[in-house]
Amino acid sequence: MDEHRPTPPTTATNPFLSGNFAPVEAETTCLDLEVHGRIPEGLDGRFLRIGPNPIGPVDPLRFHWFLGTGMAHGLRLRGCRAEWYRSRFVLSAKAAEALGRAPIPGPGAGRRDGEVNTHFTTAAGKLYALVEAGNLPVELDEELESVARSDFGGTLEAGFTAHPRYDPATGVQHAIVYEPGLPVRYLTLDAAGRAATVARIDLPRTPMIHDVAFTASSIVVLDLPVTFQPEAARTDRPWLWDERKAARVGLLPRAGDVGRLRWFEAPRCFVFHFLNAYDDGDRTIVDVVRHPRMFATVQAGPGEGLPALARWTLDRSSGRLVEAILDERGPEFPRINGAFAGRPYRFGYTARSSMSAHPHGYIAHRRPDVDAGPAIKHDLERHSSEVHDYGPGRVTLEPVFVPRPDARAEDDGWILSYVYDAGRDQSDVVILDARDFGGDPVATIRLPVRVPYGFHGGWVPDGSPIPPVA
Ligand SMILES: [Fe+2]
Repeated sequence: MDEHRPTPPTTATNPFLSGNFAPVEAETTCLDLEVHGRIPEGLDGRFLRIGPNPIGPVDPLRFHWFLGTGMAHGLRLRGCRAEWYRSRFVLSAKAAEALGRAPIPGPGAGRRDGEVNTHFTTAAGKLYALVEAGNLPVELDEELESVARSDFGGTLEAGFTAHPRYDPATGVQHAIVYEPGLPVRYLTLDAAGRAATVARIDLPRTPMIHDVAFTASSIVVLDLPVTFQPEAARTDRPWLWDERKAARVGLLPRAGDVGRLRWFEAPRCFVFHFLNAYDDGDRTIVDVVRHPRMFATVQAGPGEGLPALARWTLDRSSGRLVEAILDERGPEFPRINGAFAGRPYRFGYTARSSMSAHPHGYIAHRRPDVDAGPAIKHDLERHSSEVHDYGPGRVTLEPVFVPRPDARAEDDGWILSYVYDAGRDQSDVVILDARDFGGDPVATIRLPVRVPYGFHGGWVPDGSPIPPVA
């Protein structure tokens, strides 16, 4: 294992700088990892995760969990072995300077070269780290080193999103993009890695729109009460709850005809993530993780009531939305089998958070009060769920579904996730059989470090061209 150690950051009063939220100090490389159980045959590729990992001192009073230099984590599996784990800073201009490295090339220098810390995608054989609200994607190499900023060959007119959604029916990724001073835009990213702006949606206040969903006919657009309010911000991320604003969800025809964009009044809430959406006759089903409030009194990160998995049924003939709560136990970081995106599906996977246990943030696993952070498999057809508890003091965030090669059933595959073990203050990657969800793990790969709570990731299977991170 070799390490490079920059100046450690301040981890004082802000809960999103404490416990396993705290950044790690160093990039890590570790070869031939310890494996308990057996890594399945055919599971060859890289399992990635990314999250914020500020370098050097930060002001805990101004810090928001969504800020900080990105750090990409990757575990490489091949031939039933865990060949390596690597963590690498995603080089913003400031990060390169802080680390004493050469800045990466690419467009947007001085304007769109800030932190990139939220998700990944692949396009035209390249892997990109992503963030929303203005900064450009950063291309990463096979071993997660930052290569260059990218505007997708000059086709991206401004920033991108952290949550493009891959449509297996067309090979196109859908994206809703927002940033201050520009209209909300609906973009596509094609298999050749070219972005296209399909629609511009003028909204009275710039809402935070973290995710997108799509159906056979429509793009699902969120317009919820978290908006750009720099005058009221106490942290360095000025997107706050807006008491003046109603909540609504829109169906935009996929061809981008904004004149036919149809809005449905929604319960006042905030949604980071969709689980999925699909058309069902005259109705459109939109499954979301909805939070009762967001960034109203707690501005450093999420923490104002447990999230719930909800089904919004949009009746396109009456124009009405009806909500059904599917799970109130605090599910977040929802994932599905990506082959079922935009069409009827049965299974979803989430990680349970415990916001109610903590006054500051919903993922309340600071070391002294860790109990459990299980994963949940939701059966939306049978209205049931299974829980996988990773054991005392062992908690997970986003559980990623990876299909078995040649799988036929929707849940024929594995669930991979980074699991923090508070007892060792280190992390594992745990592989579950998705059809034996509550059973013992198929394999547990021990990492030499902890992987801080972060945001998103995915499985990048070996192959050429690299398939999309779905
Ligand atoms: Fe997200």
